[in-house]
Amino acid sequence: MEAVVSVLVALSSICLLNRDITTYAAPAEIGDSQWKLIERSGWCARPPKDRATFAGAAPFIIIHHSYKPGMALSESDCQLAMQQIQDFHMDERHWSDIGYSFAICGDGNVYEGRGANVVAAHAPHYNNRSIGLLLIGDFTEALPPSSMLEVALDFIQFSVDCGFLREDYILYGHRQVRNGTICPGDALYAAIQKWPHWQEDVEDIAYL
Ligand SMILES: *[C@@H]1O[C@H](CO)[C@@H](O)[C@H](O)[C@H]1NC(C)=O
Ligand SMILES: *[C@@H]1O[C@H](CO)[C@@H](O)[C@H](O)[C@H]1NC(C)=O
Ligand SMILES: [Zn+2]
Repeated sequence: MEAVVSVLVALSSICLLNRDITTYAAPAEIGDSQWKLIERSGWCARPPKDRATFAGAAPFIIIHHSYKPGMALSESDCQLAMQQIQDFHMDERHWSDIGYSFAICGDGNVYEGRGANVVAAHAPHYNNRSIGLLLIGDFTEALPPSSMLEVALDFIQFSVDCGFLREDYILYGHRQVRNGTICPGDALYAAIQKWPHWQEDVEDIAYL
């Protein structure tokens, strides 16, 4: 019971993140997969060096794997993985913040990256019109555990219900919109092709 309460609290707080009150939607049904949203403070995120937002529900969601760091299972290892990714993006890539919008970790929770409606750095041309959803781990050969896949699907539906992903969203794997990457790994890429709203054809970005 306690778990359910904390999930609901997390859900309603994320719906309010960066949202105009008029676009607020009631939290989604949680279904069988229970997850918490770990906000930035929950993984000791560094403050962004810069931050820009975009308005409206994103038309795209783009799926990534981390490759490195690999799978993390405990909440503390997941926090550490988020910190490592953020450090890499800020210190090596010289980006303003962690590149992704949100991440799903092996502890079964959703971690806030840049968040909803914040311009991200995960796929050129799509950064101001998508959610960059990371699954933490190397999914080249092995699939994420089914619990992680369920949370990812649940979070996608939740994003629609909250109004920060369009109802008619298009879902791509990173490799579809960027040459020279095999992200999100062969195994995960095969799996997402069966997910709702996955689209094989990539629209010419000039017409978006
Ligand atoms: C995103 O950026 C592109 C290129 O700068 C621009 O043409 C487009 O209008 C932007 N879209 C949104 C939703 O801000
Ligand atoms: C990848 O390269 C091919 C061949 O050069 C090109 O047709 C395609 O548009 C490129 N895709 C992206 C996402 O840049
Ligand atoms: Zn990627």
